[in-house]
Amino acid sequence: MARTKIAPEQIKEAVRDHYGKVAQGAVSGACAEGSACCSGVASSCCSGDESALYTNEELSAVPTEAASSSRGCGNPVALASLKSGETVLDLGSGGGIDVLLAAKHVGAKGFVYGLDMTDEMLTLANQNAERAGLANVKFLKGDIESIPLPEASIDVIISNCVINLASDKARVLKEAFRVLKPGGRLAVSDIVIDKNLDGLPLSEEQIRTALSWVGCIAGALTIKQYRELLEQAGFGKIKLEIRHRYTVEDVVDMVPQNVLKNFAPQIVKELVSRFTSSSISAVRPR
Ligand SMILES: C[S@@+](CC[C@H](N)C(=O)[O-])C[C@H]1O[C@@H](n2cnc3c(N)ncnc32)[C@H](O)[C@@H]1O
Repeated sequence: MARTKIAPEQIKEAVRDHYGKVAQGAVSGACAEGSACCSGVASSCCSGDESALYTNEELSAVPTEAASSSRGCGNPVALASLKSGETVLDLGSGGGIDVLLAAKHVGAKGFVYGLDMTDEMLTLANQNAERAGLANVKFLKGDIESIPLPEASIDVIISNCVINLASDKARVLKEAFRVLKPGGRLAVSDIVIDKNLDGLPLSEEQIRTALSWVGCIAGALTIKQYRELLEQAGFGKIKLEIRHRYTVEDVVDMVPQNVLKNFAPQIVKELVSRFTSSSISAVRPR
């Protein structure tokens, strides 16, 4: 698999810096300098249109600030079929929308952890949890490649458009497997490449280098690679389902401005149609 040659720490720093600015923009209601968060060009995993991902009922169940700071590409809580009393972990919890929704599903007997590496996102998430008045949630600072929770302590792991941002995805999935209880479930929304990036007039490396890592595109796995990494981590009952195939208009919001102008229109169309928002589910065997 051809990969970009950007150093893992450099990717992490760029991701932290970008999502720090997204969070600051959400807190101030204005655009942090250097962030495209309020220009209509989010350069984030999604364009910030939460109404496309969540029902009105879900959106009205969380504080407005949690809904508007959502930067996911799917609805992992809807995928997870959460039950009362379960313990849930959200990998890359951002402003906390999925943590708050999950907390309502698992109720007072359940508990939901959000894990994020960006201080500004953690501040925003804690403010949103306070606004929601929920006592059964906790936001942890840390890296999803090294989850700060004990083995076999979680019933369900959710994640919304984050795993593609990790430089070592195999490690993330192994960590997810480790902290899940036997029989525990993984329910993830992520950007995934349908088939591969072959057959285009540019190499996979050229394509990935041109695209923005923070926009969740450059680091996306193919469906086949995702399945293989889940299997290698030990997961069973693996299911990957395409929910949305991106259009050129969608992706303009997810890559640096001008990048697409370097490619011929028919190539852009062909390239973009291979990127999808997909649901990924799997189980840690008992
Ligand atoms: C695209 S946003 C999604 C946020 C949230 N899941 C949502 O749906 O709104 C990505 C989030 O993942 C966090 N993140 C990215 N890579 C991470 C890593 N390696 N460890 C922990 N958090 C990470 C970022 O700080 C950011 O808050």
